[in-house]
Amino acid sequence: MTNIRAAITGVHGYVPDYVLTNHELAKYVDTNDEWIVSRTGISERRILKGEGKATSDMAVEAIKGLFEKTGTRPEEVDFVVCGTVTPDMMFPDTANIIADKLGIRNAFTFDVGAACSGFLFSLATGEKFIASGSHKKVLVVGADMMSAIVDYQDRSTCIIFGDGAGAVLLEPARDEGYGIIDSILKSDGSGVVNLHQKAGGSLRPASHATVDAREHFVYQNGRPVFKAAVSGMASVVKEIIRRNGLTADDIAWIAPHQANLRIIESVASMTDFPMEKMMVNIQKYGNTTAATLPLCLWEWENRLKKGDYIILTAFGGGYTWGATLMRWAY
Ligand code: UT7
Repeated sequence: MTNIRAAITGVHGYVPDYVLTNHELAKYVDTNDEWIVSRTGISERRILKGEGKATSDMAVEAIKGLFEKTGTRPEEVDFVVCGTVTPDMMFPDTANIIADKLGIRNAFTFDVGAACSGFLFSLATGEKFIASGSHKKVLVVGADMMSAIVDYQDRSTCIIFGDGAGAVLLEPARDEGYGIIDSILKSDGSGVVNLHQKAGGSLRPASHATVDAREHFVYQNGRPVFKAAVSGMASVVKEIIRRNGLTADDIAWIAPHQANLRIIESVASMTDFPMEKMMVNIQKYGNTTAATLPLCLWEWENRLKKGDYIILTAFGGGYTWGATLMRWAY
């Protein structure tokens, strides 16, 4: 067993230019700005427009920025892992397409599903390859073009989701004591009934009937998902603090999945964190699924100090959820 700790050594994000406001959504479905803001905290979200544009294009933009910032060359990258539920196509994986577009030729690449926990689960995967000593420069990506699978006739889901991508560079920590310390990752397959995209897989291959029944869109039964998200994230945040001998006061920031401002507020109150320590950008981007956590880190990067204890936490379809504790390494 080696004892190498993986650290995030750079982060970058990308959101498309097009801003879809609550007011514009109110033209398509029976909703209004007041309802959306008070029930979710979301004012607007970004949408990727343009023929031939896909999830990989947003990820490529995020990684280009990351390469520039960190002085990384494509040939140095040895592993690319991408969390996404909106891959460019059913196969091959979007990570392969991203690598090809960036000229990354010396890496192995694959996608992780895990819905809104996709980045967290990908980060844990990348971390293990660094910790084992087998890999040195890993790109961990969270990218989703939710507008491709959202039903703009369903007011309970179309108001929530947006498009975006973020990526981090993972390397062996240069200084002892920094980097990723611990992760708790959980799944409960019984949650599938409340959050899924029914058709397009082997169970319900695409057909006229599946299209007519609108089965290629996200289905969500919001209330049970809301409750499970609050209790799931709160319990893993408490557990990861406890089992590492820390208290809430030791933690500088929490980056929570951005699904609903009320969920973030409930998690903060159940774990004794003031809202000032919660990273929140849901008002601008909505729920970008696997991209929420790297987009938070990207926006907060200048406020993070070397040595800060940070917790990332997510909850999503599956159900999947978890928390990762790290000491910021730069
Ligand atoms: O990221 C993956 C995990 N996902 C989540 O964590 C999402 C968790 N769930 C939620 O965030 C919330 O449940 C929603 C935002 C999806 C919905 O909010 P809610 O407060 O749970 O509303 P609800 O589904 O209980 O609906 C309450 C009412 C209903 O009307 P009636 O039946 O009481 O007359 C809905 O039809 O609000 C209605 N409604 C709306 N009204 C105006 C639902 N969506 C809208 C809307 N505008 N956009």
